[in-house]
Amino acid sequence: MVQTLTVLGLESSCDDTAAAVVRQTEGAEAEILSSIVHGQTDLHSAFGGVVPEIAARAHAEKLDVCVVQALDSAGLSLRDLDAIAVTAGPGLIGGVMSGVMCAKGISAGTGLPLVGVNHLAGHALTPRLTDGIAFPYLMLLVSGGHCQYLIAHGPEHFTRLGGTIDDAPGEAFDKTARLLGLPQPGGPSVEAEARAGDPKRLRFPRPLLDRPGCDLSFSGLKTALMRMRDQIVADNGGLTRQDRADLCAGFQQAIVDTLAEKTRRAIDLYLELNPINPVIAVAGGVAANTAIRFAIESVCVEKGTRFTAPPLALCTDNAAMIAFAGLERFRAGARDGLDLTARPRWPLDQRSPSMLGSGKKGAKA
Ligand code: KG4
Ligand code: ZN
Repeated sequence: MVQTLTVLGLESSCDDTAAAVVRQTEGAEAEILSSIVHGQTDLHSAFGGVVPEIAARAHAEKLDVCVVQALDSAGLSLRDLDAIAVTAGPGLIGGVMSGVMCAKGISAGTGLPLVGVNHLAGHALTPRLTDGIAFPYLMLLVSGGHCQYLIAHGPEHFTRLGGTIDDAPGEAFDKTARLLGLPQPGGPSVEAEARAGDPKRLRFPRPLLDRPGCDLSFSGLKTALMRMRDQIVADNGGLTRQDRADLCAGFQQAIVDTLAEKTRRAIDLYLELNPINPVIAVAGGVAANTAIRFAIESVCVEKGTRFTAPPLALCTDNAAMIAFAGLERFRAGARDGLDLTARPRWPLDQRSPSMLGSGKKGAKA
């Protein structure tokens, strides 16, 4: 019998509190019935980054409000749901715990089945939610906390081809903005400055291009930028608007070139394994960067690979992706009990070695 499932999703792993309702009839496209996101940018702006304790408290205060809004906006009540999905990691542990506790409370109170979702799987399955992309496909996840190339084989089966060994690119953009006195989040501010800059004036490194494979490293770029900034200040007594724009343009170009080359390599590896109807999808906040998006699209044209990117609101953190990933797990028979635990680290591909470092916006996985 064809089954229609309606799932409520909760997300609270970083600095967005979110709830959403997604419905899918077997074999048909999924439908987002509502998607509510309460960002916390204002709460953290004075601190130059996400403060985990403040984030956790704000999630605990806002989650129930988000759930009520998501149900109202979908025109549904808890009785209309088949399951409740929640991000159970990886991320800032206090925030993840807030979400898991809220979901457990609803599950215990209503008897609704509970499904824990890996936040990265939420991002990685979004192309199926937005474009109905069939497995397998190649995924580049680029955000403030994550950067990895994944082959998605199934809702719970991923192969990681490579990823960052230190900072995520969004983190590098945010740190660069801080070093240049630009507003947070850094990605959009650095991109806007870079438009007026000369990417060739200051030569930034292209990290790890001399090494085979598609691992990435971004922490050296902000150190290079800091040195260049200090040198200009020492030579000229300060930074002009043009200096700042040139620093941003050089920095951004280094990220663009590195991601383009590593994407080329990831596509080659993917094509060796999955040659039929190759698709690459990007997701994560950094996928909003026009220069990065364009460079990756160009590599896809060069390689004859289809390119797809979810709309921006579904590239960044949201609960629709969690509801959908939970729905896919639930349909496959997955259920979690009230012993579901919040996990700060949770690699999608358990067989590959864990990545080094711990991101400002949560543990890398
Ligand atoms: O996916 P996301 O909303 O949150 C997580 O990190 O999970 O991504 C936010 C990150 C921030 O670091 C932000 O600076 C970056 O995405 N970002 C950008 C742009 N817009 C957002 N980075 C570069 N260019 C952009 N236009
Ligand atoms: Zn995310």
